[in-house]
Amino acid sequence: MMRAFCFALLVVTVAGCRGGESDQPPVHLIRNMFTQEKGKAYRQDTTGLWADGRMMRTPVDGTVAVGELREDTHFYDGVALPTDSDGGVVMLADGGMPALEPAQFFPAQVKVDGKIPDALRVRGHNRYNIYCAPCHGVEGDGKGTVAFRPDGTTSRGLMVPPPAINSDRVKDLVVGKIYQAITLGVNQDNMPSYAAQIPVADRWAIVSYVRQLGNAVDEHPPGKAVVVLTASAEAGAQLYKSKICVTCHTLDGSKLVGPSFKGLYGKTESTSAGDVKVDEAYIKESIREPLAKVVTGFPPAMPKQEYTDLELESLVLFIKEQK
Ligand code: HEC
Ligand code: HEC
Repeated sequence: MMRAFCFALLVVTVAGCRGGESDQPPVHLIRNMFTQEKGKAYRQDTTGLWADGRMMRTPVDGTVAVGELREDTHFYDGVALPTDSDGGVVMLADGGMPALEPAQFFPAQVKVDGKIPDALRVRGHNRYNIYCAPCHGVEGDGKGTVAFRPDGTTSRGLMVPPPAINSDRVKDLVVGKIYQAITLGVNQDNMPSYAAQIPVADRWAIVSYVRQLGNAVDEHPPGKAVVVLTASAEAGAQLYKSKICVTCHTLDGSKLVGPSFKGLYGKTESTSAGDVKVDEAYIKESIREPLAKVVTGFPPAMPKQEYTDLELESLVLFIKEQK
């Protein structure tokens, strides 16, 4: 009896799982909301909701999905503004922004205390062995198994043999170039792009490992920070760049967002608090409390930042020099 019942159950179960497609809704004893009108992705729009008859919609123009805003070109594209040795951005002589270049340095996201942590290289080593070693070789000597037969010479299917990437050539490639090789591929797909396989952070991990294979020493400039130990006009000049005064104040008399520093010291300035003679006290106040006296004809657009006394002294000395 029990056996017959089990057999019947089996027949019913198997028969119910044939997987055929039907336009009819399946039999549901308690239907709840199972057979409501609805649209399904990849299906035709049967609701008449959309004029083009497609159920799956494209994103609204100009919108960005959460987490997909890829504004940080250094991290995502491997390109950055060229910087000088202190990490400050060098503006063009005409005050414009220079063009983006393959980044010289690793992006902040993969650094800890301004340095590449060992864990990143370890991860890079692991990913390298999976994605790069088949062509470039475990040692980075270009003798990967895809390119060469075990006897060491014959090139297999690749039109161009992969170069050694423990060589001087790669030592000379800035980190952004190696990142771009992974992201964009090299020379019309002689090496294909690995962007689809390797997430962004892992690409940087691989870059750090490739630099190690090439015995390249990476400098990690202190970012935008300039530490002032003695007040001086030179320190002021550094701060002028690193504290981004340069984006709003020129040194040549031309007007940007704020007044030029040229000839500022000693002149009489018309401000929201009346005419003021520009002396050290006024400059310090202008920097520490930008809204205390707003220069006539300019917006109250100067950001308030924190400064040490030495930084302030240095900025004053620097501005004094701009005759
Ligand atoms: C399918 C084989 C293959 C794989 C896998 C591969 N490469 Fe390449 N790679 C090449 C070839 C071939 C070239 C030379 C292309 C040329 O010069 O036209 C190359 C060139 C390069 C260059 C030199 C770019 C230059 O400007 O000189 C770098 C750096 C590089 N690859 C890094 C990598 C890294 C990192 C990986 C792993 C993510 C990787 N490659 C995976 C085949 C490969
Ligand atoms: C975002 C743009 C912006 C930045 C960045 C900025 N400033 Fe300003 N600054 C202004 C504007 C606009 C004014 C004029 C309005 C005012 O007085 O607040 C001004 C005014 C001043 C004045 C008074 C000038 C005068 O003609 O009397 C001084 C001094 C000054 N800034 C110094 C600095 C220094 C030093 C830095 C960097 C540490 C800096 N500013 C960064 C926009 C900026």
